[in-house]
Amino acid sequence: MPINNPIGILSVGHYLPDTIIDNHHFVDRGMDTSSEWIETRSGIKTRHIVSENQSTSDLAALAGTSAINHGAVDASVLDFIIVATATPDHQGFPSTACLVQEKLGLTNIECFDVTAACSGFAYALSIAYAKITAGIGSHGLVIGAETLSRLVDWSDRRSAILFGDGAGAAIVGPVETGGFLGFDQGASGHAAGILSCIHQSNTERFNGTHQTDHIPIIHMDGQAVFKQGVQVVVESLNQLFSKQSIHASDVDYVICHQANIRILESVSKKIGVPFEKFLTNIDRVGNTSAASIPLVLSQYHHDQFSKGDIICLVGFGAGFTWSSILLEWS
Ligand code: UT7
Repeated sequence: MPINNPIGILSVGHYLPDTIIDNHHFVDRGMDTSSEWIETRSGIKTRHIVSENQSTSDLAALAGTSAINHGAVDASVLDFIIVATATPDHQGFPSTACLVQEKLGLTNIECFDVTAACSGFAYALSIAYAKITAGIGSHGLVIGAETLSRLVDWSDRRSAILFGDGAGAAIVGPVETGGFLGFDQGASGHAAGILSCIHQSNTERFNGTHQTDHIPIIHMDGQAVFKQGVQVVVESLNQLFSKQSIHASDVDYVICHQANIRILESVSKKIGVPFEKFLTNIDRVGNTSAASIPLVLSQYHHDQFSKGDIICLVGFGAGFTWSSILLEWS
């Protein structure tokens, strides 16, 4: 049966791997870069790196457990698990979400992955909202989880410096007031080439070894992604504000995908929401793709949010994809 209550976020949680590396790490391993260049051009100071024996589903399950432990609802109420990831445990199948179900000790509930790169978590929230609104389940666990350190060539200064590993999770379900107010999402396939994974040989792994086999590696036209990112985020947020008949001054917080602090500063100026309202963790965790938005949500919600706050979540990334969500904190 369709649910009459508003649908919102009931609890959040996250997990970050123990290993933290700072910008000097890249200089120490012989890369032609500097700590200052990385921090000035991206805003990143440190990032977390997954251990050799951890997989994306491990990170996702730990974030999911954290969301379950922080919430008032029992795991037994969950009807589905969606994992947004660009770095699934297996190419093809099984989905990472099925592995998470097993690791959480749950059975039978629907599980699937979403592939929308850095927009993945926001896309997955919209799917959870649509399913619950249609009565196909009442509660869902939505996770963004990535092990991007395995998708970069650690000798490539244009990309290796940017990415980090981690996972964030949210339980979505009926709330008394507020919840999801509106969505704006889309994709431009014609820009797929500016950020993609291409099979490549002779790449360097995080542990310093060389990989001779062809493996998928991130290739990015940084400047094109920067420009496209700013453009789609600004257009999408303006669309969302217009559809919901709200003004930029009504927004209490913006949680934008953490790709580059300069992207966030540029978006802030263009949409007229002061930068103090942009919540960021990029200095500490780098770009964690689909994990980026739920990590910020989880790290800030306790100290920052009050009931009734108007929050914009906005993801953008490879595809080229984008997804903006207006949320009233419940
Ligand atoms: O989740 C979405 C995925 N990615 C993004 O959103 C990334 C968006 N793009 C960016 O964040 C920025 O474009 C980067 C941080 C990747 C690069 O910053 P930039 O200010 O756009 O630098 P650039 O690409 O214009 O490069 C300027 C110079 C170049 O040297 P030349 O050609 O001027 O001699 C690069 O080769 O900086 C050089 N460079 C570096 N120098 C030191 C590139 N990477 C590095 C590096 N250290 N790590």
